[in-house]
Amino acid sequence: MKFFIDTANLAQIKEAQDLGVLDGVTTNPSLMAKEGISGEENVINHYKAICEIVDGDVSAEVISTDYENMIKEGEILAALNPKIVVKVPMIKDGVKAIKYFSQKGIKTNCTLVFSAGQALLAAKAGATYVSPFIGRLDDISVDGLSLIEEIRLIYDNYGFTTQILAASVRHSAHVLGCAKIGADVMTGPLSAIVSLLKHPLTDSGLAQFLADHAKAAEKQG
Ligand code: E4P
Repeated sequence: MKFFIDTANLAQIKEAQDLGVLDGVTTNPSLMAKEGISGEENVINHYKAICEIVDGDVSAEVISTDYENMIKEGEILAALNPKIVVKVPMIKDGVKAIKYFSQKGIKTNCTLVFSAGQALLAAKAGATYVSPFIGRLDDISVDGLSLIEEIRLIYDNYGFTTQILAASVRHSAHVLGCAKIGADVMTGPLSAIVSLLKHPLTDSGLAQFLADHAKAAEKQG
């Protein structure tokens, strides 16, 4: 399973890249706003900066919601760097835009997916990635991981090549759940990746090894 980081924060992207396990980045308009990035030029420069840090796909979301403008925006974004994936919302014009981009060989990420029907439609339109938001489903007491299971089953039934990008991942249990089901990618905050490191027996075991080593060195000296 590929690990993407869901942020527009350059320091966090660099930290994840330096860890050696990062496969890509996803952003969205809220994440860009959180970093104070606005205005066409700043937005474009920020995507370019992300592409310089990461080895892998970088999702950049269109703001337009009508077909013509989604196409215009998406073509500008895709021309920035071959790593750019045009992120398009799951709305009627978005589905049409995904079909257009897929015919042009432009990578797409169909975002704001909350049902298996939406995921089926995204795959039919030729999306490179589909992003079901598992954390936001959990927030309304709907099991987000069950949606990943449903989509996996449907895509495998028909051999769809659209990659399941489990989004809105919040913690390490989500990451593991996605890996067990067979999601192709997960995207979440740096904390969800780093928390996979943690086990109390690792910490106590390491402390014991180092203490034993120090004692042995003391005896010898
Ligand atoms: C997906 O690409 C979105 O950027 C993201 O995962 C949304 O996550 P959130 O529900 O934590 O905002």
